Parts: sequence; C-alpha cells; structure tokens
Amino acid sequence: MKNCKLSWSLVVVLSIIVALFAYKFTVGEVQPSDDGRQAVMLSKDERNALLLEMRTWLESSQGILEAASQKDFAAVVASAKASGMGAEAQTPGSLFRKLPVEMKKLGFDTRKKFDDIAADAEANKDSDRIVSQLSVAMNNCIACHAMYRFVETPQ
Ligand code: HEC
Repeated sequence: MKNCKLSWSLVVVLSIIVALFAYKFTVGEVQPSDDGRQAVMLSKDERNALLLEMRTWLESSQGILEAASQKDFAAVVASAKASGMGAEAQTPGSLFRKLPVEMKKLGFDTRKKFDDIAADAEANKDSDRIVSQLSVAMNNCIACHAMYRFVETPQ
C-alpha cells in the first residue's frame, strides 16, 4: 500500500515536470518589450546565429529576384536552397527551448517556402510564379518582425 502511494506521488511529480517542460517549450524565453513586441531572450551566440540566418534569408530573397529577372533558374534554385530546410542544421539546438512555438512555426514555414520556390523553379522555369511565391514567403518576414525582437541576456 505504501509503495502504491509512493508511485502515485512519483506520477504526479513527473507529470508536473513534463507539463512544465511542455509549457517552457511552447512559450519560450520571452518578455514583453516596450516597443509592443515580444522580446526573445537569447545568449550572445544564439542571437548572432539567428541574425546571421536572417541575413542569409535577405540575401536569398535578393538572389531569387535577381536570378528570376534574368531567367536564370539554376541560380534561383541555388539561392532558394541556401535558405531551405537543408540549412537548418546550422541553427543551435538550444534555441528549440527558447523560441516560442509560434516563432518556430513561422521560421520552419519560411524555410519550407524557400524549398518550394527551389522545387517550383526547377519544374516550371516561370519567373512570374517565382516572384509571386517569394512575395507570399516575405509575408512571413513581415509577420515575425512585427511580433518579435531578439534581446541579448547578460551571461
Ligand atoms: C520566425 C521569425 C522571423 C522570420 C520568419 C523572419 N525574421 Fe528576420 N528577424 C527576426 C527577428 C526577431 C529579428 C531581430 C529583430 C530585432 O531584434 O529588432 C530579425 C532580424 C532580421 C534582420 C536583421 C539582421 C541583423 O544582422 O541585424 C534581417 C536582415 C532579417 N531579419 C531578414 C529577414 C527576411 C528577409 C525574412 C524573410 C525571408 C525574415 N527575416 C524572416 C525574426 C524573423
């Protein structure tokens, strides 16, 4: 009987721990920011890694537009792939816990949209389609920037 009580307490304690982890994973390390957005609190290295990723996304967007305007579809594919899922491995794993789930969703969706542009450019070789797909993808840039900023926490 005593053992049984002990294991129930264990179940309760473990459930609370799991729930806390799930909660942390969902909300991430965020604080309200005085500019009306959410501040995602990161270490210096994590923030630098994400800002580098951002600059790559900007470069890819410009690269896609330039290549599409010249109807150079191999270059569209190369620029788009540089920001696709294949490049996700460069993102530090610790960020999975710190980024709010909404942000992760938008981030993955953006990478997926770059992969879709690459696949579509390869298959259809249609610059108008590429421009309009990039324009849709860039709504993700606008949406995320409107909601979040990255703030470095003192270590
Ligand atoms: C999932 C969220 C998210 C998405 C999607 C996103 N960004 Fe960002 N980006 C951010 C955040 C947060 C910052 C930091 C803003 C701040 O701290 O004020 C940022 C910063 C940047 C910067 C500044 C980099 C630097 O070195 O300071 C550039 C450039 C940028 N983003 C480009 C883009 C482009 C282009 C896209 C779309 C193709 C994009 N971002 C999509 C969240 C996002």
